[in-house]
Amino acid sequence: MREILVTSALPYANGYIHLGHLVEYIQTDIWARAMKAQGHQVTYVCADDAHGTAIMLKAEANGITPEEQIASVKASHEADFAKFLINFDNYHTTHSEENKHFSELIYRRLNSAGHISTKDVEQLFDPEKQLFLADRFVKGECSECGALDQYGDNCEVCGTTYDATDLKNPYSTLSNATPVLKTSKHYFFDLPEFEQFLKDWTRSDNRLQVSVANKLQEWFEAGLASWDISRDAPYFGFQIPDTPSVEPDKYFYVWLDAPVGYMASFKNLCDKREGTEQALDFDRYWAQENEHKTEVYHFIGKDIVYFHALFWPAMLAGSEFRTPTGVFAHGFLMVNGEKMSKSRGTFIKAETYAEHLHPEYLRYYFASKLSDKVEDINLDLEDFMQKVNSDLVGKVVNIASRSAGFIVKKYDGMLSDVCVESTLLEDITKTGDEIAAAYENREFSRAMRLIMQCADKANEYIDEKKPWSLAKIEGTEQEVQDVCSVAINIFRQLMVYLAPVLPELTANAKTFLNIEDLSFASRNEWLLGHKINKFKPLMQRIEEKDIEAMVEASKESLAQAAIPVANDTDVNCDSKADKNTQAAKTDTEQGDYIGIEDFAKVEMKVAHVLECNHVEGADKLLQFTLDVGEDKPRNVFSGIRKFYEPEQLADKKVICVTNLAPRKMKFGVSEGMVLSTGDPKTGLTVVTLPDDCVVGDTLA
Ligand code: MSP
Ligand code: ZN
Repeated sequence: MREILVTSALPYANGYIHLGHLVEYIQTDIWARAMKAQGHQVTYVCADDAHGTAIMLKAEANGITPEEQIASVKASHEADFAKFLINFDNYHTTHSEENKHFSELIYRRLNSAGHISTKDVEQLFDPEKQLFLADRFVKGECSECGALDQYGDNCEVCGTTYDATDLKNPYSTLSNATPVLKTSKHYFFDLPEFEQFLKDWTRSDNRLQVSVANKLQEWFEAGLASWDISRDAPYFGFQIPDTPSVEPDKYFYVWLDAPVGYMASFKNLCDKREGTEQALDFDRYWAQENEHKTEVYHFIGKDIVYFHALFWPAMLAGSEFRTPTGVFAHGFLMVNGEKMSKSRGTFIKAETYAEHLHPEYLRYYFASKLSDKVEDINLDLEDFMQKVNSDLVGKVVNIASRSAGFIVKKYDGMLSDVCVESTLLEDITKTGDEIAAAYENREFSRAMRLIMQCADKANEYIDEKKPWSLAKIEGTEQEVQDVCSVAINIFRQLMVYLAPVLPELTANAKTFLNIEDLSFASRNEWLLGHKINKFKPLMQRIEEKDIEAMVEASKESLAQAAIPVANDTDVNCDSKADKNTQAAKTDTEQGDYIGIEDFAKVEMKVAHVLECNHVEGADKLLQFTLDVGEDKPRNVFSGIRKFYEPEQLADKKVICVTNLAPRKMKFGVSEGMVLSTGDPKTGLTVVTLPDDCVVGDTLA
């Protein structure tokens, strides 16, 4: 028996659980259940991630204390997880005694081993709010191109990345006050010291997926930097121990104590179970010397790989704890092929979903999509309905509903004493080994395919034997019972295979089948001369109207969606868009429609590049003189210098946005925008038009 500890990433305590999160919790839960069903001792823990500026500000906005804030969010998270049948062995919070204990312990060990250093950091400070401003809370003018209203980490107009302190005329997005520069001592964890350890660690023992290991390789090549693990008061978190009392209070940055939350939740569970039959020994799972006795796995999203595959193992190794056996990343959820959107109604709360549709539909659909890859997964709502209806209702449940009636009515619920199709049943029993392996390897989509193939075989068998026709012929009683018994036995096998995905349906099937056990091993004993109970429908079809109602209920007006503190993407920025992490969250959770009226406001014209030049003193910009069919040519700056030599664009036909408000820059006024595609950080391609396009023509 293997002893396995498994975790999902800890959701932030400032927002609700949505379907994107559920990809992860459902994936982990299925895995944990499947491993339990294979006879291993599996412990699944999680917690709320309760610290950080964002949570502090959210509580303030709600007029409550951070403690009240995190308590109410935790209750709602737990209620949502319960609805989706996420079977945590323990759900804790990072704002706990256990977490404080282990965070301090790890820090002290790192410190005494010489892995912590201090450095003065000059940072923008909001004099009104009296707090240091993370990059996402500062806006101002780009130091390079002068564009207004740019965030403190990079300019969306010219693509320059810079420090917030480089912004011109900065202001705090929290108070509108002008921030002042203030120096303060910060504590750093010496990540570069762990470079060799991490290179070995990330490449050995299949700890990481190949694509993740490759990504890490890029990070190694870019060079590891020391990690700033402190934040000044006011901050909601744990104070750093042993700091000089003359300093303003120093707190652990939320990402330092967040992963320690895995240990803390586990410790909390060990304490709860002490003296019971299910007692767990903390050291057996976390002490360095026990690294090979037990297994620890973290399931995470691709946006937080940096924290889990670099900082976390380095912190653990540096403080003499064991490191995880594996870290498994999944991709992001798309809905109908696009990023989730509040205006389209596809940014769906777990709670809203559960009001309209059964959570097991989603569990099955995600299972049918999930693999061991880091790819994004798409919830296509039409396909979702089709697939669930045809696989679960049409194929699986149908096997029982077609055969149970005969057994119960005609044979008093008794199955035949012998199996007349042992080859077929053996075949399906044997497929169970492949299915078990697919679960273990996180190839759930493969497992679902194998299961549906078994269901197809059962349905083909029933179609061929036609018990409903046989029953009308005299002298076939035994045959009808035998055929239906084979079908019920296959159905039982399918329930074993689907139990990790559909815990509720299969629990109901257990009552119907009159069995106790759905472990993988149980399928080896066939149900012969066994009495079953009356069949009750196990699952309803999904109806289109329920999906429509869910989408409708999820639609938010643009105005609502734009309220910053209500939008969890914004609130999380403090912790995720940290430049250090190089793992900033994508904007997957935003994305809104504009009406045609808004689109019609943008005027785009065919422009002829009369001149294209370097701009002295600006290594990001090119200057264009454009003929857009007006009396005078226009002057336009574009942040594409890194990707083009001026000669390449001279005389080309390009697209110019001609009604963009003129922007005053250090080098002159920009009277439009030249359209290009790509990413200002990695490469832009100017959109050029065929030579026969007429200058000044409007694009529509
Ligand atoms: N609090 C951190 C994790 C700390 S772990 C020590 C965090 N929280 S989160 O609430 O933003 O995300 C929790 C998990 O859900 C992360 O693994 C994240 O990748 C995942 N997802 C959040 N949105 C998601 C999608 N839209 N799609 C798929 N997974 C997503 O990160
Ligand atoms: Zn700029």
